[in-house]
Amino acid sequence: MITRDDFWTIADDARLETEYVADEKLHYLQNASLETLQSICLQYRYFTKDFPDNLGVLVSKLPYGKMKSLIAKILAEELGEGNDKHTHLRLFDDFLLSISISEDVFESSINQENVTLLNEIKQLTLNESPAYAIGLCGMGGECLCQIYLANMHKNLIKNPYIKDNKKSIDWEFWNFHVGDADVIHRQLVREAINEVADADPSCVSDLAAGYQKAKHNWDTFWSNVYRASVPKLQETISVSKI
Ligand SMILES: [Fe+2]
Repeated sequence: MITRDDFWTIADDARLETEYVADEKLHYLQNASLETLQSICLQYRYFTKDFPDNLGVLVSKLPYGKMKSLIAKILAEELGEGNDKHTHLRLFDDFLLSISISEDVFESSINQENVTLLNEIKQLTLNESPAYAIGLCGMGGECLCQIYLANMHKNLIKNPYIKDNKKSIDWEFWNFHVGDADVIHRQLVREAINEVADADPSCVSDLAAGYQKAKHNWDTFWSNVYRASVPKLQETISVSKI
């Protein structure tokens, strides 16, 4: 049986590895054309859109406690805490508009491989155990996607188009998702997970399985996006790094 400490060792290793992979994978954003940037950012939109619904399902599955409250709080933030102009989807769409993507393509541009991936996440969140769903979207979404987001931001701001248009770009989404809030969130997630693991040590294996699935999903998502958006560059980068 996996213990709580084993789980944190697995999670910390996965985090480190994700940091390395994200760093390798997203570097090309620095020199990507506007068209490539647009198509990559557009794909991320669909994850932002599905995330609150998965969190809602997760809240409904959890017993009363720190984790249920925390996920509900994260969900409320995703939904703009009562202000629909502040939903994270709206903030991301404002960013997309500000890099000259037309609203007409917002709903119709999803990559088919990502449809499959998103449906799988939805189904697993619904059907697997609460601990698996925490690992999959309670901390997978919060902690692992954060690494990709931070990396995306780090590389985006070095891109010539983004630099030239810095003043007219809507940065609100990024202000929310990159920075100190991430560290605080991670600490809160860690405390809540410890409470779940201590209440029922047998659920730790499911937690780890969900988390590993989340890691795999994020890596796959970025590989799908990369393959679809940067076909010409693909030949110059070995498959193992994608
Ligand atoms: Fe968010």
